[in-house]
Amino acid sequence: MPEFTDDEDLGPSGIAAAHYRSVLGHFPTGVVVVTASAEHGPVGLSVNSFTAVSLEPPLVAFCAHRRSRSWVAMRERRAFCVNVLAEDQEALSRVFATRGADKFHGIGWSPAPSGSPRLWGALAWIDCSIEAVYDGGDHEICVGRVQELDVEPGDGPLVFYRGGYGRFEA
Ligand SMILES: Cc1cc2nc3c(=O)[nH]c(=O)nc-3n(C[C@H](O)[C@H](O)[C@H](O)COP(=O)(O)O)c2cc1C
Repeated sequence: MPEFTDDEDLGPSGIAAAHYRSVLGHFPTGVVVVTASAEHGPVGLSVNSFTAVSLEPPLVAFCAHRRSRSWVAMRERRAFCVNVLAEDQEALSRVFATRGADKFHGIGWSPAPSGSPRLWGALAWIDCSIEAVYDGGDHEICVGRVQELDVEPGDGPLVFYRGGYGRFEA
């Protein structure tokens, strides 16, 4: 989750950010890096709010903080590519979660059909156009229409749980 608020502060809702994050952190998720080819170069951010929405038409969604620079650039571009991270890509997740970092420095990628970066080593990629953007409080809910998608050979997924990274075991 993004770190844009003071953890101890009770917001107008009366819920402390730290408590909110701790409780929601008990829901395990995968990690994706959502990328786009912006006017000034590639952009991307780590996301765990990604989900499938609909098969017909094929829609997916994720929530992006309104102040994420990557999201603002992506929204303008009207397209993005979701990269599902593999278990050995924790470092990548950390880099793409760092605001202001030179996120693509030394990162291998190829353009997806939309031009958005497909990160080497990711387990799967889902190339989308932006179908709709809805209000989501301090976030926006982005719904993407899937244009092309595929999997790549690899091991297990990177898992995020209670603020830490792990692997999946059946
Ligand atoms: C595991 C993980 C999951 C994250 N999920 C989201 C998310 O769903 N939405 C979001 O806006 N930020 C999420 N973040 C935080 C963003 O990656 C981070 O705020 C972003 O990189 C900000 O940088 P930017 O301003 O350069 O876009 C997540 C971070 C981590 C480590």
